[in-house]
Amino acid sequence: MIYFDNAATTINKPKCVKEAVYNAIDTMGNPSRGAHEPSLKASRLVYETREKLAELFGIRDASRIAFAQNATDALNMAVNSVVNKGDHIITTECEHNSVLRPLYRSGAELTVIKSDACGKLCYDKEIFENAKAIFINHASNVTGNITDLKTISHIAHKNNMLLIADAAQTVGCIDIDVEDMGIDILCFTGHKGLMGPQGTGGIYVRKGIDMKPFRTGGSGIHSFDREHPSDMPEVLEAGTLNCHGIAGLNAALKFIKDMGIEEIYHREKALTDRFLNGIWEIKGIRLYGDNTADKKAPVVTLNIDGVPSDILCDRLWTEYGICTRAGAHCAPLMHKALGTDKSGAVRFSFSFFNTEEEIDKGINALREISEL
Ligand code: ALA
Repeated sequence: MIYFDNAATTINKPKCVKEAVYNAIDTMGNPSRGAHEPSLKASRLVYETREKLAELFGIRDASRIAFAQNATDALNMAVNSVVNKGDHIITTECEHNSVLRPLYRSGAELTVIKSDACGKLCYDKEIFENAKAIFINHASNVTGNITDLKTISHIAHKNNMLLIADAAQTVGCIDIDVEDMGIDILCFTGHKGLMGPQGTGGIYVRKGIDMKPFRTGGSGIHSFDREHPSDMPEVLEAGTLNCHGIAGLNAALKFIKDMGIEEIYHREKALTDRFLNGIWEIKGIRLYGDNTADKKAPVVTLNIDGVPSDILCDRLWTEYGICTRAGAHCAPLMHKALGTDKSGAVRFSFSFFNTEEEIDKGINALREISEL
């Protein structure tokens, strides 16, 4: 099997991740809820993992990070706390339903920034006036186009707005420094570029932003209060944390630190470029996104003329053992902007563990399918 569906979830996790999960299942108690060794061990793990995430994202105070199940969970928390009915909120055509659906449900007045035929955002600074916040991704899950968050944050902060970034497609692959980039709230998942288990992720909230509990319940502290604690991170963490998953994420973060984000990015970029160079001239290939950009997430989305995207994806799997993702990728506005809302498109997404040989097999499979 060749796995090119890493933007959905990474399958090839470092060996240390699997070992950490197995070990945690046998040894972890409930964090912050006991004074015996298994509970303390879990508490230490949670503390250490927050610290590692803080180091990765340039966050000074690790307690500003709460764990979540994934980026969708984190984005729902952000919308729940920041957006009230009638607020003016800005978002973009490049967003995933993890942003769009919570915003639609919130009753906010939305201004949606349009994109060009390559999926690049086109906006005038004036649209930012009188808005409360912008929800925007760091990279599109369809095109891999990167958003210049630093520029967006300058404009947003000039207008007293919050910048809420969806980093589902960039964490672990592209460097993120929340202070340098001016990110007020960062939502991320653990199971994609961070190479951790599914069911892990988190949210960073800048000091000074008050969060509302997204779910309430046991917190391990202030048990006689009727209200859920209001401080970070407890305000966003109710019930037993996914310590088994967090143990895997912790191991993955160590792997990423040892390897270095730059090294990971260069490897994934080199694989993406090799793939793009190989398919460029294949007859009937239609590519989406800004594939000539200096920096992009390791994603290539395409169609072959005359081959429906679901059939192409299916043939890649059944005839070549290649895993890709077809359809709308939960990003309806992006596909409308690219003109692929009816046809869908096939997404190839690469990871640090893919090889040049696999890339060449992918190119060859597309060439053969296009010739038949
Ligand atoms: N958001 C994930 C994707 O793009 C699941 O495939």
